[in-house]
Amino acid sequence: MNHFELNDGELWCEGVPLARIAAEIGTPVYVYSSATLERHYQVLHDAIASRPDLGEPLIAFAVKANSNVSVLRTLGRMGAGADTVSEGEIRRALAAGIPADRIVFSGVGKSARELAFALDVGVAEINVESEPEIALLSQIARQKGVRAVMAIRVNPDVGAGGHAKIATGKAENKFGVSIGEAERLYAQASNNAGLKPVGVACHIGSQITDLAPMEAAFGLMRRLVERLRGEGLSVERLDLGGGLGVPYFHQPAPPSPEDYAAMLSRSVGGLGVQLAFEPGRMIAANAGVLLAQVLHVNARPDGRQFLVLDAAMNDLIRPAMYDAYHDIRPVRPRDGSPMNYDVVGPVCETGDTFTRDRALAPLAAGDLVAFMTAGAYGAVMASEYNTRPLVPEVLVRGGDYAVIRPRPTYEDILAREPMAPWL
Ligand code: LLP
Repeated sequence: MNHFELNDGELWCEGVPLARIAAEIGTPVYVYSSATLERHYQVLHDAIASRPDLGEPLIAFAVKANSNVSVLRTLGRMGAGADTVSEGEIRRALAAGIPADRIVFSGVGKSARELAFALDVGVAEINVESEPEIALLSQIARQKGVRAVMAIRVNPDVGAGGHAKIATGKAENKFGVSIGEAERLYAQASNNAGLKPVGVACHIGSQITDLAPMEAAFGLMRRLVERLRGEGLSVERLDLGGGLGVPYFHQPAPPSPEDYAAMLSRSVGGLGVQLAFEPGRMIAANAGVLLAQVLHVNARPDGRQFLVLDAAMNDLIRPAMYDAYHDIRPVRPRDGSPMNYDVVGPVCETGDTFTRDRALAPLAAGDLVAFMTAGAYGAVMASEYNTRPLVPEVLVRGGDYAVIRPRPTYEDILAREPMAPWL
């Protein structure tokens, strides 16, 4: 259920026709549905919280998936926390009104400045990923005369399939420390006046559609918690990361929140820790579309048809970067049999191709199309390559919508670049 539906022959977001947003704001533009964001958060929360052996979780939305402050506030008002990976993301979460005690700070390379900032604002937990990082955190915390509340990110060495560029849980990936190392470092940290280890964390990858690798990794985490407690160490929190996949189209249905929660009961139920989660994609992906307009239909003599859009790889990079599949839907589908199109953007690179030979309802110049499932890792990965103004964002709620990131003007863009004084 994503609240992007056909109504009277055209695609709407909740109570607003997408064509109206295109006419008033212009294209390309990202459009998000508040009701979908809220529903996805609630369904995940309820599936977990309704199981007494799991308890009330901290669901920290992975800000990297969609960092717009209005999106963060929509989720924060439901009770969501934030999983952040930079000072900038922490600042966004705070600006959205998410309290520091629901903010997790993760990431493989945090700077001294970022760690100091996280300590000053009092985030719920800093997930440290290596021995040198633990040493740096301890040094900064001692200087400040505080004990840094931290968890150790474990790399459980479990492969979860999916695209190699987003797999994180294998030993050869740069993330976290091995289970054995985690045990040693946790004990050491417990004796360090600058550190307060409260838990362990893992995240094995993204767009995972099979629960088995998660269950295997979480079972290893459970045994780690039990061993640490066996050594007399206190473990209050277990952070199981994000990673649940979403259906992009023609793909196996991802596990339901209920199946996920049942798997959690099997693997970590009754452990007596607070469970934390860092979902990004499963909350935001289906809550957003990228709306674009057809500039030209370029029919080649050899029969190939290029659909040239006003959106490009700089607006949605997932197809170019991960060969990702996004469903493309005409906003006002025309009658007629489907045609095969190569859907491309205006950027001067062959990689600026969203898809090849895709059968779509017939389209003409001026028609609008929506890239579905674009609410996660869409706008956040956009750039101004080719000096195409950063793509704007719109949030819909019922029959209303608001521009939550305006398209910059060319004056804005040029004003950001002071001329070197000797020129
Ligand atoms: N926690 C950590 C430590 C992560 O590294 C990630 C994602 C998440 C949580 C959220 O994972 P999710 O629930 O969204 O799967 N740009 C790529 C995805 C990169 C994911 C990176 N880490 C894409 O467009 O597919």
